[in-house]
Amino acid sequence: MTVKESKSLKVGICGYGTVGSGTLALLQGNAKDIARKTGIKIEVSHVASRSLQVDISGVATCGTDPFAVANDPNVDVLVETMGGFEPAFEVVRQALANGKHVVTANKALIAERGMPLVELAQEKGVTLAYESAVAGGIPVIKALREGLAANRIDWLAGIINGTGNFILTEMMDKGREFADVLIEAQALGYAEADPTFDVEGIDAAHKLTIMASIAFGTPLAFDATYTEGIGALTPEDIAYAKELGYHIKHLGIARLENGWVQTRVHPTLISTKQLIANVHGVGNAVVIHGHAVGSTLYSGPGAGAEATASSVVADLIDIARAKVQGLAKPLVPTLGYTAPRDDLRTLTIEDITTEYYLRITAQDVVGVMADVAGELERFGIGIDAVIQKESDGKNVPIVLLTDKTREGELNEALAAIEALDSVVAPVMRIRVESFGE
Ligand code: HSE
Repeated sequence: MTVKESKSLKVGICGYGTVGSGTLALLQGNAKDIARKTGIKIEVSHVASRSLQVDISGVATCGTDPFAVANDPNVDVLVETMGGFEPAFEVVRQALANGKHVVTANKALIAERGMPLVELAQEKGVTLAYESAVAGGIPVIKALREGLAANRIDWLAGIINGTGNFILTEMMDKGREFADVLIEAQALGYAEADPTFDVEGIDAAHKLTIMASIAFGTPLAFDATYTEGIGALTPEDIAYAKELGYHIKHLGIARLENGWVQTRVHPTLISTKQLIANVHGVGNAVVIHGHAVGSTLYSGPGAGAEATASSVVADLIDIARAKVQGLAKPLVPTLGYTAPRDDLRTLTIEDITTEYYLRITAQDVVGVMADVAGELERFGIGIDAVIQKESDGKNVPIVLLTDKTREGELNEALAAIEALDSVVAPVMRIRVESFGE
């Protein structure tokens, strides 16, 4: 097909940080190839940014007001790469209300304030695309929403924060300090503007919320997602886990079982034999289990300018192709369903059942191991493996893996263990999971 020079898709980029500038660079650098794939040119006509570090006035009209882009009748698609809730929500709302398509990389916006935007896009018959909001460069939204559409999704689990995975990998491989690795992740453009979003699991919870909504056909429910960060993990836990045959990963897990949905983000021990346990550095990976297909694995770079721009531009290519086809409305509903389910209930974290890694710091006195085992037995919790380390002269770490236990019971057992005279610090508890890949 020859490229029609007269026709183009006009794009306004709002927010010119890592992702916004990466998007322009990718559109420019691969323009011919992209035009061959769409049949029209994708042209960045506007860039709105609080402050431009480089002069791109020869390429696009530049300004500081994103609403000027949202209200410009010549703009077909608004790309929102500003991040945050305001003014992003209002800019996106305005653009959709004006009948423009929107491509956003803003997972917080979609996960926490997405429902009215999804409804507005549907009402206006325009596309609201967000591939880059989840797992950076991995086309996991397309896989889940379109590629696996025939399936009932039973569960999915993923390493969905590149910064966190980069930090855990550097701590494991090089014994580096948490804070030092975080500074490097920020310099590499991986971390959020507020990096506590990365380390406390909020960023991963945003992404999990979006995937769970598509997977189970439920409304976006960020508040229902249990979130625990990686800040309390120590290099010792990473080393003990390895000794037991596990890596510690910060996982997002969503399951639908007997009408109950659970969505949770927390550090997790995974057997080193599982593929997902061996995704390191800034890499992300998501395992999705569909009832017909079984388990499928998607992996790739989860953060960074070029990887994230790859997904933004893929969304733009979809919109350009639809324009060339003259489609009046988007082919695929924004969250993959035409109406959300309301028949499912949410499982609280106390009601999940899994295995646990426990590290108990106790005085090096005779009978302490028997006391700990006795408390676990009292609550019906079996022990699967134990390692007892050398004493530092005063205290001794007792590291063990439990059998499958309901978290509520485990909490009661841990309170009893912490109340023992010989136990000198709060117990470190990490959930253990296994996924058929
Ligand atoms: N801060 C995010 C991460 C960026 O580290 O994964 C990509 O969403």
